[in-house]
Amino acid sequence: MEFFDVLFSARAMRRYSDEPIAEDLLVRLIEAAHAGPSGSNRQSRHWIVVRDAEQKQRLAELNRRFVSRYLEANREAANPHVTPEKRERFLAAVEYQMEHLHEVPAIVIACADMVRAPQGTFGEGVQAATEVWGAVQNLLLAARALGIGSVPTTLGLVDRDAAREVLNLPDHILPMVLIPLGWPTGNFGPIRRRPLEEVLHWDRYDTGAASAASDVTRPSAD
Ligand SMILES: Cc1cc2nc3c(=O)[nH]c(=O)nc-3n(C[C@H](O)[C@H](O)[C@H](O)COP(=O)(O)O)c2cc1C
Repeated sequence: MEFFDVLFSARAMRRYSDEPIAEDLLVRLIEAAHAGPSGSNRQSRHWIVVRDAEQKQRLAELNRRFVSRYLEANREAANPHVTPEKRERFLAAVEYQMEHLHEVPAIVIACADMVRAPQGTFGEGVQAATEVWGAVQNLLLAARALGIGSVPTTLGLVDRDAAREVLNLPDHILPMVLIPLGWPTGNFGPIRRRPLEEVLHWDRYDTGAASAASDVTRPSAD
């Protein structure tokens, strides 16, 4: 696929078939993630690929605790850039994934190594977080290029200690992003975003864009 077709169609995909993902493809995805940039090239990231049924079940239970709260709290939340129908579709997909997370072929947990990450540039933890997320985006795009569905999620890791216990992580390894992977049952893309003129600034922040952006309701999670 052409690179920009990959990028602009890499939608969050939350419904997958039961078909497994071959190990060499999973390795390829981690290789793509691992190629992401990092502060001082210290590469303070780890990737846990979960395929074991019992482990997936345990992660799905953690995810359910916080996604069900999110769904209850955000059912009515307004977003001026999203129609009520699209909002309903989004919530239905999040709920579907909550119910089926234990069945997905694989779950990747992207982790930050808080000791290895350079400290002090943006404040504790921020550098580690940014380099994990940059690498995660590589993984999402690589997955899209291979036709694999994925979505970066965080709600399943809200209880970090519980996630650490499930994954046998030492204290300095912080689980940050939970990425389910599977062959999608729906279609990719196109992604929909706020108009560029609301977010693109030349030379300095301009109030025209700022006032257009200020009507956005702050979501409580996700
Ligand atoms: C920081 C962050 C946290 C997110 N957490 C969740 C989550 O917990 N559960 C979930 O289903 N999606 C989660 N998402 C995915 C977003 O819902 C998704 O990126 C957004 O709705 C745009 O979707 P689209 O790319 O299909 O347009 C998260 C995304 C980001 C960047």
